Amino acid sequence: MHIVVIESSPNRDGLTAACAQAAIEGIRAAGSTAEDVRLKDLKIGSCNQCGNGWGGCRSDHECGGVQDDFQALHQKVIDADALVLVTPVYWGDMSESMKDLTDRLRRCEASLGEESRLLGKPVLMVAAAGGGGGGMISCLTNMERWAQHVRALPYDMIGIKRITRAYKLETIRAAGRAMAGYSA
Ligand SMILES: Cc1cc2nc3c(=O)[nH]c(=O)nc-3n(C[C@H](O)[C@H](O)[C@H](O)COP(=O)(O)O)c2cc1C
Repeated sequence: MHIVVIESSPNRDGLTAACAQAAIEGIRAAGSTAEDVRLKDLKIGSCNQCGNGWGGCRSDHECGGVQDDFQALHQKVIDADALVLVTPVYWGDMSESMKDLTDRLRRCEASLGEESRLLGKPVLMVAAAGGGGGGMISCLTNMERWAQHVRALPYDMIGIKRITRAYKLETIRAAGRAMAGYSA
């Protein structure tokens, strides 16, 4: 299996990065390959809401409205056997960079219905929160809704915060390993 791990914090040594690293370790321990993608190293803008709001992506299933690093990452996501999405919790939601990516992926793939190129693709979703952890669940809820829209398989949804860090990193490592061995 080749699994693309997408993380969306600006901090290279924060909780989000530790979660991504744990998932990667689990995936590699299972003998699969993991590719780490840091969204903050890429230029991926917001959806332009082209035309009357539906945009050309509704029929083309590609984003023609904003030319940036999205197009290459979209292809990488399509080609991957599974995905890991790791976001810090901002305002009870995904970070803006993860939101921009998932919004544009949804535009391109949800319009394909059962033909979505993410249909049945296992996705491990991780929300890394702060001390209190408020908003972790709403963040995971929004990630789950995204997975439903693009017809992906929410393999697991894990919330982690500072005080649960140690055992949740173990959980993420185990989840990465298990997902790498999963077949439908
Ligand atoms: C703009 C902003 C909004 C945040 N909102 C929340 C929040 O709603 N709930 C929460 O538990 N933590 C919140 N946090 C804290 C981050 O989720 C937390 O520090 C997280 O661990 C950051 O990940 P990082 O260490 O990888 O950067 C917020 C942080 C920022 C910068």
